[in-house]
Amino acid sequence: MRRSKAPQISFIVSIVSGLGLLVVYSTGGQPQLEGLLWFYALAGLGVGIITGTKKYLPNEETVEDRHTLASSDAEMAAARSDFFRTGSDEEEELAGERRTVLRLLVGALAALGGALLFPIRSLGPHPSQDLRETDFAEGVRLVTVDGSPIKSDQLGVGELVTAFPEGHTRAADSPTLLIRFNEDNFIPIGGREDWVAEGMVAYSKICTHAACGVGLYQNVTGLLLCPCHQSTFDVNDGCRPSFGPATRALPQLPIAIDSEGFVVAQADYPEPVGPGYWDRTNNT
Ligand code: FES
Repeated sequence: MRRSKAPQISFIVSIVSGLGLLVVYSTGGQPQLEGLLWFYALAGLGVGIITGTKKYLPNEETVEDRHTLASSDAEMAAARSDFFRTGSDEEEELAGERRTVLRLLVGALAALGGALLFPIRSLGPHPSQDLRETDFAEGVRLVTVDGSPIKSDQLGVGELVTAFPEGHTRAADSPTLLIRFNEDNFIPIGGREDWVAEGMVAYSKICTHAACGVGLYQNVTGLLLCPCHQSTFDVNDGCRPSFGPATRALPQLPIAIDSEGFVVAQADYPEPVGPGYWDRTNNT
């Protein structure tokens, strides 16, 4: 009797497609070809399991009295010998096929598992500390967008300028608002009294809601407004949000004046700038 080879053929198709995926992915990838190979790898696996199950597993209803769940040694030995039993040529051939199909199934799953590992490469480079650090550091001058260092007497009360770390005026995580505040209203955060310099304070310009540039400043009220969703930050109160969807204060940059009278950073920001992300700790 001629028996169908559908399970074997399906698993072989799945294995070949899985290996094909490995090759295509490791040589640079090709979306359409990858899609096609994924289809054949998964379809081969599915068809192989269905046809193999129909062909090799008993298709009959049996009723068994309830008994202790664990099989005795004798029962396990009998089952083992039943499974590998050889008898007529046809039974022997069937047992051989069953073993081959099991091996092919393992091969198909292994090839697919290997192909599944490769998309990890598509996650891109590890960000390491890039999301937590900016180019500010102790002694780094604050400069305007054209690279000019900012003098301590450059700003009048209520004026502000967007500053960057010297040499990094294009760094997306570094725009900083340097503000000369009104000393009558300003209340420094406890423990940060020396983070301001000659009436100036510096906060990250990147909104903690969704990273727009916070740039609208009302000198009279001391409020900074984000134009995107109207989050409002109080410069005189540690830039804590007083309105809108932002929930975190704008990070403060500790600043000082160097021996030549230029504004410098005392250190980097003490916390990541911008919106919250997945592994930010509770207090940052
Ligand atoms: S990005 Fe600033 S309020 Fe939404």
